[in-house]
Amino acid sequence: MCGIVGYIGYREAYPIVIKGLKRLEYRGYDSAGVMLYDGKDLKLSKTKGKVVDLETKAAKEITTNGTIGIGHTRWATHGIPNDVNSHPHVSNSGDLVIIHNGIIENYAPLKIELIKRGYVFHSDTDTEVLVNLIEEIQINEKLKLGKAVQVALNQVVGAYAIAVFDKKNPDEIVVARLGSPLAIGIGEGEYFIASDASPFIEYTQNAVYLEDGEMANIRLHKPIKVRKIQDDSLVDPYIQELKMNLEQIEKGGYEHFMLKEIYEQPSVIKDTYRGRLHANEGIIQMSGVEDNLEKFMNAERIIIIACGTSWHAGLVAEYVFEEFTRIPVEVEYASEFRYRNPIITAKDVVIAISQSGETADTMAAIKLAKEKGAFVYGVCNVVGSSISRETHAGSHTHAGPEIGVASTKAFTTQITVLTMIALRLAKAKGTMSNTDFHRYLLELELIPEKVKEALDTNDKAKEIAAVFKNSNNCLYLGRGYNFPVALEGALKLKEISYIHAEGYPAAEMKHGPIALIDKYMPVVVIAPKLGHYDKIVSNIQEIKSRSGIIIAVVTKGDTQVRELADYVIEIPETSDALSPLITTIPLQLLSYHIAVMRGCNVDQPRNLAKSVTVE
Ligand code: F6R
Repeated sequence: MCGIVGYIGYREAYPIVIKGLKRLEYRGYDSAGVMLYDGKDLKLSKTKGKVVDLETKAAKEITTNGTIGIGHTRWATHGIPNDVNSHPHVSNSGDLVIIHNGIIENYAPLKIELIKRGYVFHSDTDTEVLVNLIEEIQINEKLKLGKAVQVALNQVVGAYAIAVFDKKNPDEIVVARLGSPLAIGIGEGEYFIASDASPFIEYTQNAVYLEDGEMANIRLHKPIKVRKIQDDSLVDPYIQELKMNLEQIEKGGYEHFMLKEIYEQPSVIKDTYRGRLHANEGIIQMSGVEDNLEKFMNAERIIIIACGTSWHAGLVAEYVFEEFTRIPVEVEYASEFRYRNPIITAKDVVIAISQSGETADTMAAIKLAKEKGAFVYGVCNVVGSSISRETHAGSHTHAGPEIGVASTKAFTTQITVLTMIALRLAKAKGTMSNTDFHRYLLELELIPEKVKEALDTNDKAKEIAAVFKNSNNCLYLGRGYNFPVALEGALKLKEISYIHAEGYPAAEMKHGPIALIDKYMPVVVIAPKLGHYDKIVSNIQEIKSRSGIIIAVVTKGDTQVRELADYVIEIPETSDALSPLITTIPLQLLSYHIAVMRGCNVDQPRNLAKSVTVE
C-alpha cells in the first residue's frame, strides 16, 4: 500500500510525478503529496484526498517548476488521513524530505529517543520518525545522505520502500527497499523511481527492481550504485527490459478499469494458456512445472496460501487438484498460516497465489514454508514482483496490469493457471484417463468464447442491479466448484458497493444464515446444471418457502430453476471443474452495476488498496 514516485533529470518533474501518482493510486488513495526542488527552493504540497485534490492544492500554494521531484499517494497505517500525516515528510532542519511505503514497527521507541534529543514531531506517522532518525545520524556522525540512510535503516524494524532527498546535496535521491517494491527507471540523463514501472513506461523500458535489503544512490549523470543495506557490499544492478505498454494501463474507452478488466477476460485467459496449452496435440507444458515435475510428483500434500480473491482461486484449485490428481490439498489464509506454527515438511509443495506479488502476509508465509524445507511455487500476475522472485519457481498468469482495486481478471487467470497445473500433474500421475485429459484440454480452449458469451449477461445484470441496488444485505450460495465462486461474488459486492454480503456453501445455509431470509433478502444462487444440481434445486426451494428472493445463475436452457427463481442469468454450458471461469462473470457484472448505481467509486473503494504490503 502507498505508492511512491520520483524523478531526477532534465524535464519538469511535476507532471511526471502527478501522472505517476495517478497510475499508482490503486495502491492507496486517502492522501497525496509532492515535493519539488527547483535548484534553489524546496516546495511541498500535500493534502488529504486524491491526487486530483493535490493538483488543486498545489496549483494554489506552490510554483510547480523544478527538475527534481518526489510524490506519494497514501493508504494510512499510522495516523488518520489528513494533510499533516500525508507524505512527503520533512526533517526538523527542513533539509531532508522522505516518501515511504511500508511500516516502521519500532517507531515508538525511536520517537521517544528523538524527542529526548529535542526533535519535534508534527504528524502521527512512523515516517516522520524515520526522516528525523536519518537526520540525527547524518548530523551526529557527519555522514553523507546515503550512509546516514543506511545506518538508520539498520536500526529500523519493519517494511519500507523509501526515497530520500537532501537539499544540501540536491543532485541525488537515495532509495531503499525491504518488503515493499521499488523500481528505478533508467533513461538518458534522467532517472525515475516508482512502486511499479507504470509511472515511467512512456519514458523508458529499462528498469532495475531493487531486491529486499538493497539501497541505491541515484545521481544525475552517474550510473546508479546499488548496495546491501546490511553489510554495505556492492551489487551489480540487473537492468531489466520492460514489456509493458501504455494502452495496458489506460481505460481504453471504458468508464472504469474494473469494467475494462472484466471485458478483457476472454483475451487474457487466452494469453494465460498461450504457448502452454496445445489441445489438439494433447499437451500442456508450463516450464515451471516441467522443471520441477519431480517435486510435484512426490508431493504428499499441496498447501495453497493466499489472501482475498487469490484465496478464493486457491479454494477452486483445491477442488480441481484433488479431483484431477488425488493429491490432498489444504488452502490457508496466508495471514493465519504464518502465525500458527503450521506443520510443513520437505514433502509438501506450497503454492502461493498473488496477483500483485507483493502481499505482505503471503510473502511471510512463503518465507516460513521455505524455512521449513517446502518447495514453494508462485502463481503471480506481476512479473518481477517480490513473490515471483521469492518463490522457488512459478507460473505467471499473464493477465496484464490489473488496476481496478477489485480483482476480476486476476481471479479467472489464476484459476486457468492452477487448472493447467492440475491437468499436467494428472497426466503425469495417471490419475485421469487420456480421454478426459483431452476433453478438458479442448474445453479449456473454448473457455474464452464462453466467457465472451457470459459477458452478454451484462444487460441482465444491470437490470437486476437496478432492482437490488438499495439492498442492505445479500447472500451468495454455491456448491462444489462453485462454493468459492459464491465467496468471491459476495466479496466483490461488499468491497465495491458497501452492501453487506456473505458467501456460503448452499447446504450450510440451514445451519444459520437461513434465519436471515425474508422477502427483502436477495439470495444469489449459483446453480449451473452440473454436479450437485438437484441438491441446489432443493436449497432454492428452501429459500423460496421462506419468501427469499432468488437470483439464479443457471445453464442456458434450464427450466427447473427458472420456475423457482425470481431472476435468472443464463450462462453457457461447460464442465463442472471449469464452470467457475464462467459462473463468476455475471457476478462481477452484477457487483459492478450495483456499485455504479449507488454512486460508489468502483475502481478505488474506500479503505482498500490494491497491493497490501502491510500485515
Ligand atoms: C479483492 C482483492 C483482494 C486481493 C488480496 C490479495 O478484490 O483484490 O482481496 O485478492 O488483497 O492480493 P494479491 O492477490 O495481490 O496477493
